[in-house]
Amino acid sequence: MLIKIKRGWELPETAAVPEHLYWSRRSFLAALAAGPILAGGTDRLFAATPEIDPSASLYPVDRNDRYTVQRALTAKVDATSYNNFYEFGSHKEISSAAQALKLRPWTVTFDGEVENVTTLGIDDLLAKMPLEERVYRHRCVEAWAMTVPWSGFQMSHLINLAQPLSSAKYVTMQTFMDPEVAPGQKQHWYPWPYVEGLTMAEAMNELSFIATGLYGKPMPKQNGAPLRLVAPWKYGFKQIKSIVRFTFTKERPKSFWEKLAAREYGFWANVNPDVPHPRWSQATERLLGNDERVPTQLFNGYGEFVADLYKGMEKERLFM
Ligand code: MTE
Repeated sequence: MLIKIKRGWELPETAAVPEHLYWSRRSFLAALAAGPILAGGTDRLFAATPEIDPSASLYPVDRNDRYTVQRALTAKVDATSYNNFYEFGSHKEISSAAQALKLRPWTVTFDGEVENVTTLGIDDLLAKMPLEERVYRHRCVEAWAMTVPWSGFQMSHLINLAQPLSSAKYVTMQTFMDPEVAPGQKQHWYPWPYVEGLTMAEAMNELSFIATGLYGKPMPKQNGAPLRLVAPWKYGFKQIKSIVRFTFTKERPKSFWEKLAAREYGFWANVNPDVPHPRWSQATERLLGNDERVPTQLFNGYGEFVADLYKGMEKERLFM
Protein backbone atom coordinates (compact mmCIF):
# COMPACT_ATOMS: atom_id res chain seq x y z
CA MET A 1 0.00 0.00 0.00
CA LEU A 2 1.34 3.44 -0.90
CA ILE A 3 1.60 5.70 2.13
CA LYS A 4 2.24 9.36 1.45
CA ILE A 5 4.28 11.10 4.15
CA LYS A 6 4.53 14.87 4.04
CA ARG A 7 7.98 16.21 4.83
CA GLY A 8 8.35 19.24 7.10
CA TRP A 9 9.33 21.52 4.26
CA GLU A 10 6.19 20.53 2.39
CA LEU A 11 4.01 22.15 5.08
CA PRO A 12 1.69 24.41 3.09
CA GLU A 13 1.92 28.09 3.91
CA THR A 14 -1.85 27.94 4.65
CA ALA A 15 -1.09 25.75 7.68
CA ALA A 16 0.85 28.57 9.31
CA VAL A 17 -1.12 31.63 8.19
CA PRO A 18 -4.93 32.10 8.39
CA GLU A 19 -6.28 31.41 4.93
CA HIS A 20 -7.65 34.87 4.06
CA LEU A 21 -4.27 36.44 4.90
CA TYR A 22 -2.46 33.71 2.93
CA TRP A 23 -4.41 34.45 -0.22
CA SER A 24 -4.16 38.21 0.02
CA ARG A 25 -0.40 37.83 0.65
CA ARG A 26 0.00 35.54 -2.37
CA SER A 27 -1.87 38.01 -4.58
CA PHE A 28 0.24 40.88 -3.24
CA LEU A 29 3.54 39.03 -3.84
CA ALA A 30 2.39 37.99 -7.29
CA ALA A 31 1.46 41.58 -8.05
CA LEU A 32 4.90 42.79 -6.95
CA ALA A 33 6.65 40.18 -9.08
CA ALA A 34 4.51 40.84 -12.11
CA GLY A 35 4.32 44.62 -11.69
CA PRO A 36 6.32 45.77 -14.72
CA ILE A 37 4.63 43.31 -17.07
CA LEU A 38 1.09 43.66 -15.78
CA ALA A 39 0.88 47.37 -15.41
CA GLY A 40 -2.73 47.06 -16.59
CA GLY A 41 -4.14 46.31 -13.11
CA THR A 42 -5.40 43.40 -11.04
CA ASP A 43 -7.96 42.07 -13.54
CA ARG A 44 -5.20 41.26 -15.99
CA LEU A 45 -3.04 39.97 -13.14
CA PHE A 46 -5.67 37.41 -12.10
CA ALA A 47 -6.32 36.46 -15.71
CA ALA A 48 -2.61 35.67 -16.09
CA THR A 49 -2.12 33.79 -12.78
CA PRO A 50 -2.76 30.04 -13.13
CA GLU A 51 -5.20 28.76 -10.51
CA ILE A 52 -3.54 26.76 -7.73
CA ASP A 53 -5.60 24.14 -5.87
CA PRO A 54 -4.03 23.81 -2.43
CA SER A 55 -6.38 20.91 -1.60
CA ALA A 56 -5.18 18.63 -4.43
CA SER A 57 -2.73 16.73 -2.18
CA LEU A 58 -5.57 15.72 0.19
CA TYR A 59 -6.97 13.23 -2.34
CA PRO A 60 -7.55 10.33 -2.77
CA VAL A 61 -9.00 9.56 0.68
CA ASP A 62 -9.92 6.17 2.17
CA ARG A 63 -13.25 4.71 1.11
CA ASN A 64 -15.86 4.04 3.81
CA ASP A 65 -17.31 0.66 2.80
CA ARG A 66 -20.42 1.05 4.93
CA TYR A 67 -21.92 3.01 2.03
CA THR A 68 -20.99 0.99 -1.03
CA VAL A 69 -23.87 0.00 -3.35
CA GLN A 70 -24.77 -2.95 -5.58
CA ARG A 71 -24.49 -1.03 -8.83
CA ALA A 72 -21.65 -0.34 -11.27
CA LEU A 73 -19.88 3.02 -10.98
CA THR A 74 -20.77 5.57 -13.63
CA ALA A 75 -17.85 6.46 -15.90
CA LYS A 76 -16.14 9.68 -14.81
CA VAL A 77 -16.52 11.16 -18.27
CA ASP A 78 -20.32 10.84 -18.04
CA ALA A 79 -20.67 12.20 -14.49
CA THR A 80 -18.48 15.20 -15.30
CA SER A 81 -19.92 16.13 -18.70
CA TYR A 82 -23.69 15.76 -18.15
CA ASN A 83 -24.55 18.23 -15.42
CA ASN A 84 -27.24 20.46 -14.00
CA PHE A 85 -25.80 23.80 -12.87
CA TYR A 86 -28.24 26.51 -13.96
CA GLU A 87 -25.85 29.27 -12.97
CA PHE A 88 -23.90 28.27 -16.12
CA GLY A 89 -26.82 27.42 -18.42
CA SER A 90 -30.15 25.60 -18.40
CA HIS A 91 -28.84 22.58 -20.33
CA LYS A 92 -26.49 19.68 -19.55
CA GLU A 93 -23.31 20.81 -21.36
CA ILE A 94 -22.14 23.43 -18.87
CA SER A 95 -18.79 21.86 -17.96
CA SER A 96 -16.59 24.23 -19.96
CA ALA A 97 -18.60 27.34 -18.95
CA ALA A 98 -18.21 26.31 -15.29
CA GLN A 99 -14.41 26.54 -15.58
CA ALA A 100 -14.84 30.32 -15.16
CA LEU A 101 -15.61 29.74 -11.48
CA LYS A 102 -12.71 30.91 -9.25
CA LEU A 103 -12.22 28.61 -6.26
CA ARG A 104 -9.72 30.62 -4.20
CA PRO A 105 -10.23 32.62 -2.13
CA TRP A 106 -13.47 30.83 -1.12
CA THR A 107 -15.12 31.40 2.22
CA VAL A 108 -18.00 29.64 3.96
CA THR A 109 -20.14 31.51 6.51
CA PHE A 110 -22.18 29.98 9.35
CA ASP A 111 -24.88 32.31 10.63
CA GLY A 112 -28.49 32.61 11.83
CA GLU A 113 -29.29 30.62 14.99
CA VAL A 114 -25.67 29.94 15.99
CA GLU A 115 -23.53 30.53 19.05
CA ASN A 116 -21.19 32.80 17.04
CA VAL A 117 -21.31 33.86 13.40
CA THR A 118 -18.14 32.54 11.75
CA THR A 119 -16.52 32.61 8.34
CA LEU A 120 -13.86 30.09 7.36
CA GLY A 121 -11.68 29.76 4.27
CA ILE A 122 -12.29 26.50 2.43
CA ASP A 123 -8.79 25.14 3.17
CA ASP A 124 -9.12 25.94 6.88
CA LEU A 125 -12.46 24.10 6.84
CA LEU A 126 -11.01 21.09 5.01
CA ALA A 127 -8.18 20.89 7.55
CA LYS A 128 -10.74 20.51 10.36
CA MET A 129 -12.84 17.78 8.71
CA PRO A 130 -12.23 13.99 8.61
CA LEU A 131 -12.23 13.26 4.88
CA GLU A 132 -13.50 9.94 3.52
CA GLU A 133 -14.87 8.54 0.27
CA ARG A 134 -18.43 7.25 -0.11
CA VAL A 135 -20.03 5.62 -3.13
CA TYR A 136 -23.63 6.82 -3.37
CA ARG A 137 -26.41 6.56 -5.92
CA HIS A 138 -27.62 9.93 -7.26
CA ARG A 139 -31.17 10.27 -8.62
CA CYS A 140 -32.19 13.40 -10.52
CA VAL A 141 -35.88 14.38 -10.50
CA GLU A 142 -35.62 14.24 -14.32
CA ALA A 143 -35.33 10.41 -13.95
CA TRP A 144 -31.64 9.93 -14.78
CA ALA A 145 -29.28 8.37 -12.26
CA MET A 146 -25.58 7.81 -11.62
CA THR A 147 -23.39 6.08 -9.03
CA VAL A 148 -20.21 7.93 -8.09
CA PRO A 149 -17.47 8.02 -5.44
CA TRP A 150 -17.71 11.32 -3.56
CA SER A 151 -14.93 12.49 -1.25
CA GLY A 152 -15.78 14.78 1.62
CA PHE A 153 -17.09 14.60 5.17
CA GLN A 154 -20.26 13.72 7.03
CA MET A 155 -22.39 16.84 7.37
CA SER A 156 -22.83 16.28 11.13
CA HIS A 157 -19.16 17.27 11.61
CA LEU A 158 -19.79 20.61 9.94
CA ILE A 159 -22.94 21.19 12.03
CA ASN A 160 -21.00 20.46 15.22
CA LEU A 161 -18.35 22.96 14.13
CA ALA A 162 -21.00 25.63 13.45
CA GLN A 163 -22.56 25.16 16.92
CA PRO A 164 -26.21 25.93 16.12
CA LEU A 165 -28.49 26.95 19.01
CA SER A 166 -31.28 24.62 20.13
CA SER A 167 -33.70 27.07 18.45
CA ALA A 168 -32.34 26.00 15.01
CA LYS A 169 -34.83 23.74 13.22
CA TYR A 170 -33.48 23.96 9.64
CA VAL A 171 -30.22 24.58 7.84
CA THR A 172 -30.41 26.65 4.67
CA MET A 173 -27.54 26.48 2.18
CA GLN A 174 -26.73 29.09 -0.45
CA THR A 175 -24.66 28.92 -3.65
CA PHE A 176 -22.21 31.73 -4.59
CA MET A 177 -23.67 34.75 -6.40
CA ASP A 178 -21.58 36.30 -9.18
CA PRO A 179 -23.39 37.00 -12.47
CA GLU A 180 -20.12 38.05 -14.15
CA VAL A 181 -18.77 34.52 -13.66
CA ALA A 182 -22.07 32.66 -13.91
CA PRO A 183 -24.12 34.20 -16.75
CA GLY A 184 -27.22 32.18 -15.83
CA GLN A 185 -27.53 34.46 -12.81
CA LYS A 186 -28.27 37.34 -15.21
CA GLN A 187 -31.54 35.56 -16.08
CA HIS A 188 -33.71 37.56 -13.73
CA TRP A 189 -36.69 35.21 -13.94
CA TYR A 190 -34.82 32.74 -11.72
CA PRO A 191 -34.83 33.47 -7.95
CA TRP A 192 -31.03 33.64 -7.48
CA PRO A 193 -29.05 32.75 -5.51
CA TYR A 194 -29.71 28.99 -5.53
CA VAL A 195 -30.89 28.01 -2.05
CA GLU A 196 -31.71 24.63 -0.52
CA GLY A 197 -32.52 23.39 2.96
CA LEU A 198 -32.75 20.38 5.25
CA THR A 199 -34.27 19.88 8.68
CA MET A 200 -31.68 19.61 11.44
CA ALA A 201 -32.58 15.91 11.83
CA GLU A 202 -31.93 15.33 8.10
CA ALA A 203 -28.67 17.30 8.19
CA MET A 204 -27.47 15.28 11.21
CA ASN A 205 -28.42 11.94 9.57
CA GLU A 206 -25.32 9.86 8.90
CA LEU A 207 -25.97 9.83 5.14
CA SER A 208 -25.87 13.63 4.72
CA PHE A 209 -22.49 14.40 3.22
CA ILE A 210 -20.61 17.50 2.17
CA ALA A 211 -18.69 16.47 -0.91
CA THR A 212 -15.43 18.21 -1.77
CA GLY A 213 -14.07 15.69 -4.25
CA LEU A 214 -15.09 13.18 -6.90
CA TYR A 215 -13.27 10.09 -8.27
CA GLY A 216 -10.36 10.63 -5.88
CA LYS A 217 -9.66 14.22 -6.98
CA PRO A 218 -10.87 17.66 -5.85
CA MET A 219 -14.45 18.35 -6.94
CA PRO A 220 -14.71 19.40 -10.61
CA LYS A 221 -16.20 22.86 -10.98
CA GLN A 222 -19.16 21.57 -12.99
CA ASN A 223 -20.07 19.18 -10.16
CA GLY A 224 -20.16 21.95 -7.54
CA ALA A 225 -16.63 22.75 -6.37
CA PRO A 226 -15.38 23.42 -3.82
CA LEU A 227 -18.20 21.98 -1.68
CA ARG A 228 -21.71 20.66 -2.31
CA LEU A 229 -24.40 18.74 -0.51
CA VAL A 230 -25.04 15.04 -1.14
CA ALA A 231 -28.24 13.72 0.47
CA PRO A 232 -28.68 10.59 -1.66
CA TRP A 233 -32.24 9.68 -0.65
CA LYS A 234 -33.51 12.96 -2.10
CA TYR A 235 -33.87 14.10 -5.70
CA GLY A 236 -30.83 15.76 -7.24
CA PHE A 237 -32.11 19.33 -7.06
CA LYS A 238 -31.62 19.21 -3.27
CA GLN A 239 -27.88 18.57 -3.78
CA ILE A 240 -26.89 22.24 -3.83
CA LYS A 241 -23.51 23.07 -5.40
CA SER A 242 -20.69 25.54 -4.65
CA ILE A 243 -21.97 26.53 -1.19
CA VAL A 244 -20.89 29.78 0.48
CA ARG A 245 -23.32 30.00 3.40
CA PHE A 246 -25.02 27.75 5.95
CA THR A 247 -27.79 29.63 7.79
CA PHE A 248 -29.57 28.01 10.72
CA THR A 249 -33.21 29.04 10.96
CA LYS A 250 -36.39 28.53 12.96
CA GLU A 251 -38.52 28.72 9.82
CA ARG A 252 -38.56 26.28 6.91
CA PRO A 253 -36.73 27.85 3.97
CA LYS A 254 -38.19 28.09 0.47
CA SER A 255 -35.76 26.59 -1.96
CA PHE A 256 -34.88 27.78 -5.47
CA TRP A 257 -37.09 25.29 -7.32
CA GLU A 258 -39.91 25.55 -4.80
CA LYS A 259 -40.04 29.32 -5.40
CA LEU A 260 -40.25 28.67 -9.14
CA ALA A 261 -42.77 25.79 -9.20
CA ALA A 262 -43.96 24.63 -5.77
CA ARG A 263 -46.40 22.14 -7.29
CA GLU A 264 -43.54 20.28 -8.99
CA TYR A 265 -40.59 20.70 -6.57
CA GLY A 266 -41.30 20.69 -2.85
CA PHE A 267 -39.16 20.99 0.25
CA TRP A 268 -38.91 17.26 1.06
CA ALA A 269 -38.20 15.81 -2.42
CA ASN A 270 -37.63 12.25 -1.19
CA VAL A 271 -37.32 9.69 -4.00
CA ASN A 272 -40.42 7.52 -4.46
CA PRO A 273 -41.27 5.42 -7.55
CA ASP A 274 -45.00 5.57 -6.73
CA VAL A 275 -45.33 9.35 -6.62
CA PRO A 276 -45.07 10.70 -10.17
CA HIS A 277 -43.83 14.17 -11.00
CA PRO A 278 -46.88 16.08 -12.28
CA ARG A 279 -45.44 15.78 -15.82
CA TRP A 280 -43.73 12.36 -15.87
CA SER A 281 -43.48 9.00 -14.09
CA GLN A 282 -40.82 8.32 -11.46
CA ALA A 283 -41.27 4.53 -11.65
CA THR A 284 -37.97 3.95 -13.50
CA GLU A 285 -34.68 5.76 -13.98
CA ARG A 286 -32.14 5.94 -16.83
CA LEU A 287 -28.53 5.10 -15.93
CA LEU A 288 -26.02 7.64 -17.28
CA GLY A 289 -23.61 5.93 -19.65
CA ASN A 290 -25.55 2.93 -20.99
CA ASP A 291 -29.07 4.44 -20.86
CA GLU A 292 -30.40 1.24 -19.27
CA ARG A 293 -33.75 1.74 -17.50
CA VAL A 294 -34.02 0.27 -14.00
CA PRO A 295 -36.74 0.47 -11.34
CA THR A 296 -36.60 3.48 -9.01
CA GLN A 297 -36.28 2.58 -5.32
CA LEU A 298 -38.11 4.19 -2.40
CA PHE A 299 -35.76 6.73 -0.76
CA ASN A 300 -33.40 5.82 -3.64
CA GLY A 301 -32.63 2.58 -1.78
CA TYR A 302 -31.60 4.32 1.49
CA GLY A 303 -34.79 3.65 3.50
CA GLU A 304 -32.98 1.76 6.26
CA PHE A 305 -31.06 4.97 7.08
CA VAL A 306 -33.78 7.58 6.67
CA ALA A 307 -37.36 6.20 6.74
CA ASP A 308 -37.64 6.84 10.48
CA LEU A 309 -37.02 10.56 9.95
CA TYR A 310 -40.50 10.83 8.42
CA LYS A 311 -42.58 8.77 10.88
CA GLY A 312 -45.80 10.60 11.77
CA MET A 313 -45.35 13.09 8.91
CA GLU A 314 -47.66 11.35 6.43
CA LYS A 315 -49.64 14.57 5.86
CA GLU A 316 -46.56 16.32 4.40
CA ARG A 317 -45.76 16.13 0.66
CA LEU A 318 -42.73 13.98 1.45
CA PHE A 319 -42.07 12.77 -2.09
CA MET A 320 -42.46 15.85 -4.21
N1 MTE B 1 -26.88 23.51 -7.46
C1 MTE B 1 -26.86 24.73 -8.02
N2 MTE B 1 -26.26 25.73 -7.38
N3 MTE B 1 -27.41 24.96 -9.24
C2 MTE B 1 -28.07 23.98 -9.93
O1 MTE B 1 -28.59 24.24 -11.03
N4 MTE B 1 -28.79 21.63 -9.98
C3 MTE B 1 -29.21 20.52 -9.11
C4 MTE B 1 -28.09 20.08 -8.16
N5 MTE B 1 -27.45 21.23 -7.56
C5 MTE B 1 -28.13 22.68 -9.36
C6 MTE B 1 -27.47 22.48 -8.11
C7 MTE B 1 -29.69 19.36 -9.87
S1 MTE B 1 -31.21 19.54 -10.61
C8 MTE B 1 -29.00 18.19 -9.94
S2 MTE B 1 -29.68 16.80 -10.66
C9 MTE B 1 -27.63 18.08 -9.40
O2 MTE B 1 -27.14 19.31 -8.90
C10 MTE B 1 -26.71 17.61 -10.52
O3 MTE B 1 -25.44 17.33 -10.00
P1 MTE B 1 -24.30 16.84 -11.01
O4 MTE B 1 -24.21 17.84 -12.11
O5 MTE B 1 -23.06 16.77 -10.19
O6 MTE B 1 -24.75 15.50 -11.50
